[in-house]
Amino acid sequence: MKHTKVLVTGGAGYIGSVLVRLLLEKGYYVKVLDNLSFGGEPLLDLLNNDHFEFIKGDIRDKNIVKDSMKDVDCIAHLASIVGDPACAVDPDLTRSVNIDGAINLYEAAEAAGVKKFIFASTCSNYGKMKDPNSFVDENSELAPVSLYAETKVSFEKYLLGQPKDNKCEPTCLRFSTVYGLSLRPRFDLTVNEFSKDLALGKELIIFGEQFWRPYCHVVDLARSVIAVIEAPSEKVAFDVFNVGDTKENYQKQMIVEEIRKQLPGATVKYVTKNEDPRDYRVSFDKISSRIGFKISKRVPDGIAQVIKVVSEGLILNPDDSKYKNVQ
Ligand SMILES: NC(=O)c1ccc[n+]([C@@H]2O[C@H](COP(=O)([O-])OP(=O)(O)OC[C@H]3O[C@@H](n4cnc5c(N)ncnc54)[C@H](O)[C@@H]3O)[C@@H](O)[C@H]2O)c1
Repeated sequence: MKHTKVLVTGGAGYIGSVLVRLLLEKGYYVKVLDNLSFGGEPLLDLLNNDHFEFIKGDIRDKNIVKDSMKDVDCIAHLASIVGDPACAVDPDLTRSVNIDGAINLYEAAEAAGVKKFIFASTCSNYGKMKDPNSFVDENSELAPVSLYAETKVSFEKYLLGQPKDNKCEPTCLRFSTVYGLSLRPRFDLTVNEFSKDLALGKELIIFGEQFWRPYCHVVDLARSVIAVIEAPSEKVAFDVFNVGDTKENYQKQMIVEEIRKQLPGATVKYVTKNEDPRDYRVSFDKISSRIGFKISKRVPDGIAQVIKVVSEGLILNPDDSKYKNVQ
């Protein structure tokens, strides 16, 4: 039997390192292309696995990208400069990686006859919702308010504008804000950061506690990529899906209340902020009705995991800058 081979760009990252393991567990052959911006430790044990191959390189490097396509059936494109603060550090680099590098990858995939191209986009493309009482969905207007989201919107447009007879069929996944543990833990994302700080006994200062966002566990985001790989083409090709669960939209104060259920003594100070350009509640009905995708974990599960690793010392210094995307 021929095994399906998946190229995961950014496979050494927070989400990628989980995705790679789930793919291997399911019997896929996996290649990772990553420039190791945050090191390669999340991949070390995988070098013992005959179904795994690592290629160190930049997605903007035409030769490396062309070589990486050999025998590949599907691409999960996760490599990126990730998050508003990291993207603001060097805007030219951000555009060059998140747009030019991504186009380079898709062109090489189409030339090599790769069948599916799954792009890790973001719900932050929605910016601020117009009607505070409703939910945005895949047909809502995109209103990116950061360079990060602008680059994601721009590459989505490129992909969805490709000729429909291209062999390489794109799917854009707009991920919720992620939380939970991974081989490359990140403590610079809301649920993980709040849980970590309160588990360390710090006083938390929260700006704009009333603003909404959707959240999704890292394992479920990885599972959504596999769900698209395994879905019939006609259900996912040249299309966009929000990834998460409609019940997992939270205001920041709701996340704090969930943490307080598990850490009753936690102290929190709220600082009023009347404007936040990122304020959105998202509907996830499409991915559920079209391909039957359902999440397996909820925010309180992620909070419990972070509290456990911090309070039991599984991670010795969770404040280390290596657990953030901007030092
Ligand atoms: N973390 C979130 O909340 C979130 C939400 C929505 C979407 N996403 C998207 O999911 C994807 C993965 O996010 P993450 O949180 O795992 O990020 P991460 O920063 O942990 O991982 C990104 C990986 O990409 C690699 N990389 C960066 N530039 C590269 C380049 N030029 N060439 C090759 N490799 C390169 C890095 O070395 C790193 O291993 C990203 O595309 C991100 O935009 C993340």
